[in-house]
Amino acid sequence: GDHEENKTFPIGETPQERSFSYVPRSYEISPTNRASLNPEVADVVVIDLGGLDDPAKRPTIIKEIGNACRTTGFFQIINHGITQPVLDEALETAFRFFNLPTTEKARYMSNDVHKPVRYGTSIKDGEDKIQFWRVFLKLYAHPLNEWIEQWPRNPPDYREKMGDYAIKARLLAIKIMGAITESLGIGPKYLESKMEDGMQVLAVNCYPQCPEPRLTLGLPPHSDYSCITIVLHSSCGLEIMDASNGTWQLVPDLHGALQVHVGDHVEVLSNGLYKSMVHRVTVNNEKTRVSIASLHSMGIDEKMTTAEELITDEHPKKYKESSFRDFLNFLSSNDITEGKSFIESL
Ligand code: SIN
Ligand code: FE2
Repeated sequence: GDHEENKTFPIGETPQERSFSYVPRSYEISPTNRASLNPEVADVVVIDLGGLDDPAKRPTIIKEIGNACRTTGFFQIINHGITQPVLDEALETAFRFFNLPTTEKARYMSNDVHKPVRYGTSIKDGEDKIQFWRVFLKLYAHPLNEWIEQWPRNPPDYREKMGDYAIKARLLAIKIMGAITESLGIGPKYLESKMEDGMQVLAVNCYPQCPEPRLTLGLPPHSDYSCITIVLHSSCGLEIMDASNGTWQLVPDLHGALQVHVGDHVEVLSNGLYKSMVHRVTVNNEKTRVSIASLHSMGIDEKMTTAEELITDEHPKKYKESSFRDFLNFLSSNDITEGKSFIESL
């Protein structure tokens, strides 16, 4: 341990960017919250979406989705309709962006969580108490023609490849939301028009290879402030919490599959019947991992309220209404690395 250098770094001058050979103090997680180097592997539900448009197969798939949302708030999907080249090219252009020189990326750098295009390290680097082994580019993605002009031009195919993936991920997310509301018994169109006019934010993450992976994390435990999040990744690193016993389990990599997270807004919509899934990201000393989390929610000022149909004498309304902007305001004034959770504030 070469830990004498106990300082924080100016934003953009992270240990990752400088290829430090150790984990600085400000990135160290307290011993009780550290990851295991040999985590248990999660037994993740894999749902074949191939039959979703087939009236004979749809009810079974809806049931599977409902069960997964109720029990873990997490599932993997196959036959989701996004082809392997589209997935591979999105990840590949993401890698190439992160490999650009810091000066090229620094133009997007900001700790202002309201920015539609924002490059950063950790979460709010230098502001939060603990830093995380992550660099990211956040991109507003819907309506795409409104935002894409602000996206990076370098790599030259970034807009085309990431934009293509964004469009396909969004159509898929709307389909899955229809299946989720159907599984809640409120019908497949319950949120459709609000999702169509809603927000899509891509969080393109890079977790560099880490010299001492036991000491730090890529992201702290959190749930997503979205209706749902669809995640594409290049390799393992995502861990989900088994709520029944509080243990962390590694999500296995299933080539070509996508991960679906139930977000806080579906928890609110369902009056807690479906739980937003708590997850974190671990790092490793073998390879850099890239992930693309596509967060889907209603419009920025649209308040999510619990479905009336799911409020009963037995299950009274559990959550205050909130919008995506309410979350951004929460994120900008709270340190989520200290365990502050938006959903718990509702
Ligand atoms: C996240 O959704 O918090 C990140 C997902 C990932 O990197 O796997
Ligand atoms: Fe997340």
